Amino acid sequence: MALLQQSPKFATTIASTSLEHQQGHIHWRVPSNIALIKYWGKRGVQLPQNPSLSFTLQHAYTEMQLDFRPSSTGKRIVEFYFEGMPNEKFRAKIVQFLETYPEEFTFTEKLHLTFHSINSFPHSAGIASSASSMGALALCLVSLAQKCGIDWGRLETTWQKASYWARLASGSACRSIYGGYVLWGAVPELPHSSDLYALPLSQENIHPIFANFCDSILIISAEEKAVSSRAGHALMNGHPFAEARYQQARTHLKQLLEALAMGNLEKFITIVENEALTLHGLMMNSYPSFILMKPATLAVIEQLRNFRRQREIPLAFTLDAGPNVHVLYPAAFRQEVRNFIDEELVKYCQQNRYIHDEVGTGPILFQ
Ligand code: DP6
Repeated sequence: MALLQQSPKFATTIASTSLEHQQGHIHWRVPSNIALIKYWGKRGVQLPQNPSLSFTLQHAYTEMQLDFRPSSTGKRIVEFYFEGMPNEKFRAKIVQFLETYPEEFTFTEKLHLTFHSINSFPHSAGIASSASSMGALALCLVSLAQKCGIDWGRLETTWQKASYWARLASGSACRSIYGGYVLWGAVPELPHSSDLYALPLSQENIHPIFANFCDSILIISAEEKAVSSRAGHALMNGHPFAEARYQQARTHLKQLLEALAMGNLEKFITIVENEALTLHGLMMNSYPSFILMKPATLAVIEQLRNFRRQREIPLAFTLDAGPNVHVLYPAAFRQEVRNFIDEELVKYCQQNRYIHDEVGTGPILFQ
């Protein structure tokens, strides 16, 4: 987070030079996040139908470097390399993003932009990478805008702009701009919350038991997602349970904020698991219908619940729009839960793969 604190000054210096001399590079590391209250359904221009809440991870991240220089043609040129190889799909996605919101990105119009991106997690791990990659894209663009002389004034406003652009690229990405627990969506409980960008929850509102929570991601299947996010969200348009779901998410959010503040693990577990199963329930009973859990997903859930009951260890599971299981638990139970994963759950994982992660500190800028 260092640059954003220093960069307004830097931006002013650069602004006084002419555009032809603008060149340099920007390098961000941006982590993924795991939603506890799920964003599922959107309206208007990338606005959520209900508020969502996640925590940012520490070890699953995208690193993106943006090299910029004046374009030889006078028009914007974009190149994109993923893990060292040119990637046309990602390049086209960025071009489309910049062209969809031309008034936001005029400062890029005469530049040659070269992106290099890598993920810390394997491409085939079935982990959604749009949150970290689009978060990284947004932060690279914010840093570039600053170097082009754009100054949003207050630091907070600069971060909000990054979250706002990340949201336009991918909803869940707007939460990855901050570390810790992050809310996206206007809720009456938090006056500064907004549908336009995410808001980090203050540490005072998070009980110490949740501060260094762990997330072990069990890779049940690394296959491509059967339904894209865009198509998934669209399933909520005209869904018979849509309104009830949006109301439930608001209620869950209020209850989860209380549980996080009070250190109420029991309430946390109930809400978080219900959110995951509701997400899958909504997909199962939409038109068309999708079953994204695999038999091994259910087997793991059953084992986790038995383990919790028998050992009285407060763990919870959550799921994204896919078969992989996120096992969530307080750091104090790290050893017991990891032993249990190694002894009982690893056999359900594809090629015995899992990733141990935890609540993270948020994006990092490399100078
Ligand atoms: C199930 O953020 O991937 O992970 O805005 O279309 O890019 P787009 O959708 P995306 O949706 C994420 C859905 C989810 C729940 C969540 O992260 O809140």
